[in-house]
Amino acid sequence: MPFKTIVEPFRIKSVEAIHFTTREDRETRLREAGYNVFLLHADDVLIDLLTDSGTGAMSSAQWAAIMQGDESYAGSRSFYRFRDVVADLTGFTHIIPTHQGRAAERILFHTVLHAGQIVPNNNHFDTTRANIEVEDAEARDLVIAEGRLPSLVHPFKGNMDLAALEKLLAEEGGRVPLVMVTVTNNSGGGQPVSLENLRGVRALCDRFEKPLFLDACRFAENAWFIKMREVGQSGRTPKAIAQEMFSLADGCTMSAKKDGLANIGGFLAMNDDRWAEAARNLLILTEGFPTYGGLAGYDLEAIARGLEEVVEEPYLQYRIRSTAYLGEKLTAAGVPILQPPGGHAIYIDARALLPQIPPLQYPGLACANALYVEAGVRGVEIGTVMFGRHPDGTETPAAMDLVRLAIPRRVYTQSHIDYVGEAVASVGALRGALRGYRITSAPPVLRHFTARFHPL
Ligand code: F0G
Repeated sequence: MPFKTIVEPFRIKSVEAIHFTTREDRETRLREAGYNVFLLHADDVLIDLLTDSGTGAMSSAQWAAIMQGDESYAGSRSFYRFRDVVADLTGFTHIIPTHQGRAAERILFHTVLHAGQIVPNNNHFDTTRANIEVEDAEARDLVIAEGRLPSLVHPFKGNMDLAALEKLLAEEGGRVPLVMVTVTNNSGGGQPVSLENLRGVRALCDRFEKPLFLDACRFAENAWFIKMREVGQSGRTPKAIAQEMFSLADGCTMSAKKDGLANIGGFLAMNDDRWAEAARNLLILTEGFPTYGGLAGYDLEAIARGLEEVVEEPYLQYRIRSTAYLGEKLTAAGVPILQPPGGHAIYIDARALLPQIPPLQYPGLACANALYVEAGVRGVEIGTVMFGRHPDGTETPAAMDLVRLAIPRRVYTQSHIDYVGEAVASVGALRGALRGYRITSAPPVLRHFTARFHPL
């Protein structure tokens, strides 16, 4: 095709108004929220890039499928439709619906993990880490060294450090019940994992007889990056690549709020019969009967259709390109971002942007708060507020201090993204004037959701 513009591969059938506020309003709202954007009323946000989780727009086909939902308590037709789509994609034998990703994590870890054990991953997402630590086990991050350097460009920055994994399995393998790989690697910047690396992890798991689980929240975005970047993969469909990714694993946890293109839902899937039985027993206790797992029949329909749409090439091409487009705007404005742009989000390197704010005064929070006050755009700190506190109560700087601008799927148009680009550039221009924060109250775990702060 002679055209360079990659248009949104949809047209809009239904719209939702967003609210404009003044700078003064936003200063007041943020103060009332304890300087924590999680505590804002969403109506006071103009463009909400807090998360790409559950915030996507469903297609007319998904809304139509919702009307077909079968709400039978047991054996619902919608469950079988959901199960067939997930089985076709993943190849796993046992497919257990859950209300979202962390419920799948909780059920997996509570059934298979014991105190003192270690779960390696490229990078654990915060709920994954918390669900491991709550079992008095250790979540260990083994991403490649390149994955820890924000400005370094590497095609597969989410890859697992195979030498480090081998060392762990050789020296402490008796304490490792399973290996995980997160695709794409959210905490490391939405960065993909290559098929070659997954095959390497698989080989180590075979050698040391460990099951491999994918944290598959953004599997389709990962498959697209493989198609674009990995030698020999460009001619394959994203679905075929995704199927190969799953075929290398023994199970997965999934939040359907991301690449399920649904507003709620998730699943746990695996091949092991004994683990699956234990998981289903816990599911019945905490989520619901195994054919609905905390979801309505109509949610299962929306997810089934979403999993079909998410691997369509026009969708993935637009999705990954529009995220990169925002990254290019910020780079052009001189704002340091984690390179290369991730699949679902752009991450501002707040530690590099605001060198005058030490990590324990939360440069990511300062940057996210300035973005809200200046422009009504909500991003989220992924840094020392989120990861700096340890189970023993001590606090150290996180590996990076980032602000994530996560792009909801199929929600915002190019002009929204252009506005966000201008907004970040305006914060970049103010960089020297921004100050850090101190915490005034915080819970012991997952503190970033509810902590309150005061400007220094
Ligand atoms: N794993 C990864 C890699 C995630 O990004 C998330 C959620 C989860 C697991 C948990 O899934 O929210 O359905 O319980 N990430 C969201 C985010 C919250 O904003 O990145 P959940």
